[in-house]
Amino acid sequence: MQKLIGQPEIILSDRMVGEIEIRNATNDDVGKILSIDNTVFSTAWSPSFLRQQLCSEKCSHRVIEKTDTIIGHSGLIRLHDEGHVTTMAVSPKNQGFGLGSLLLADLCSSAIDLNLATITLEVRVGNLKAQNLYQKFGFVPAGVRPNYYSDTSEDALIMWLSDLFDEKVQQTIQETKEKFLLTGVKNG
Ligand SMILES: CC(C)(COP(=O)(O)OP(=O)(O)OC[C@H]1O[C@@H](n2cnc3c(N)ncnc32)[C@H](O)[C@@H]1OP(=O)(O)O)[C@@H](O)C(=O)NCCC(=O)NCCS
Repeated sequence: MQKLIGQPEIILSDRMVGEIEIRNATNDDVGKILSIDNTVFSTAWSPSFLRQQLCSEKCSHRVIEKTDTIIGHSGLIRLHDEGHVTTMAVSPKNQGFGLGSLLLADLCSSAIDLNLATITLEVRVGNLKAQNLYQKFGFVPAGVRPNYYSDTSEDALIMWLSDLFDEKVQQTIQETKEKFLLTGVKNG
């Protein structure tokens, strides 16, 4: 636990930043998570699928809260010795303020907690914003799955982070967390 100088009464754990908190998702969060997904994805998970993920020992599902309101979430599943990003979303009005980066830094830490050194994911070829986010953390393109998304038949770009312990990757994770400790969330 750490106390921020100049901000009395705010006690920070390693994943809590002022009024921003990242914590494990629970069944009580399902409705709020899916309401974000309904605004950012063309097809959202079913509540039962999400509940399955939340109770699986192979999964880490995290939510980011601002003053007790869920504004984003991420999902990671362990498949053999690899992590797979199952989902990542920030509510539209909170995008562009570093919260996606904070969620991804946190997800990388969860992967390390699960003894994983590599992470993979699929992202729509047209979703450059998400691709930029992943690239920032060292993910590189590793192939294409044609017609992967059933709603539009869009191709998926496979992205791959081959070494979570790489010095540059660790630095990005650390700097992202530190930036948040120093600046907090920028919008109201
Ligand atoms: C992808 C998503 C999670 C990013 O969240 P966010 O809070 O906006 O992310 P950040 O503010 O931390 O930005 C992260 C990086 O994304 C990139 N980025 C952000 N906004 C961008 C934009 N308008 N255009 C292009 N790249 C952009 C930048 O590389 C940025 O890093 P930088 O600010 O250090 O340059 C969010 O846009 C989202 O929820 N999108 C809809 C759901 C989705 O596409 N999920 C991914 C599924 S694979």
